[in-house]
Amino acid sequence: MRLDKFLSISGVATRREAEKAARAGRILVNGLPERDSARQIDPVADMVVFDGEKIEYHENYYIMLNKPEGYVSATADRREPTVLELLPERLQRLALFPCGRLDKDTTGLLLLTDNGTLAHRLLSPRRQVEKKYRFVCQIPVSDEGKAALEGGVVLDDGYRTLPAKLELDAGRRSGIITIHEGKYHQIKRMFGSIGNRILCLERISFGPLSLDPALPCGGWRYLSPDEVAQLESL
Ligand code: URA
Repeated sequence: MRLDKFLSISGVATRREAEKAARAGRILVNGLPERDSARQIDPVADMVVFDGEKIEYHENYYIMLNKPEGYVSATADRREPTVLELLPERLQRLALFPCGRLDKDTTGLLLLTDNGTLAHRLLSPRRQVEKKYRFVCQIPVSDEGKAALEGGVVLDDGYRTLPAKLELDAGRRSGIITIHEGKYHQIKRMFGSIGNRILCLERISFGPLSLDPALPCGGWRYLSPDEVAQLESL
């Protein structure tokens, strides 16, 4: 692949910018300045550094984001900041999108990708991908409330939820809920249906992925090849 093409598909520079940068000695290939932006490189084997930043090759992008409050799960929004704005500018130039949605005030694991086929598969209701959320709610969950949430509740639009799992902490006002679907405001509405209210919601897993404890709020990292393989095998 041409060096300038590699830089443009990585969101780093247009071909013209790459040409200029190469002439200025700002691009290193395997440690040496490369002045010819049209030269062929092996995007996997060769190490390309642009303005001091190592540029990794990705056929597709898979990013784990620890979403903070206050960001919407969208690629563009007129009023609110989007989760894409948490990424460096060069990644914002790629066709990434959130795989599913977390509410603006929900935090935690959000997968960003440019692989539409995989995202479609992971979000398909038929696949029932498991999601775990840590929650805090307003009042203690009774045994009846727990049984109702676990057995399936009827939401305000008449939809009956699939069986879920609830693990309550000692005070019964917090814990972990596991669901296999992703309707709009699902967990908030589930708790609403038993006369309770979610105060705090954090997604801690999505299918085989667990929120990386090393990621600070607002932080991101690429998925490992093993994590991608696990998603692909779902
Ligand atoms: N359920 C909700 O109510 N909100 C989310 O963000 C995710 C699941």
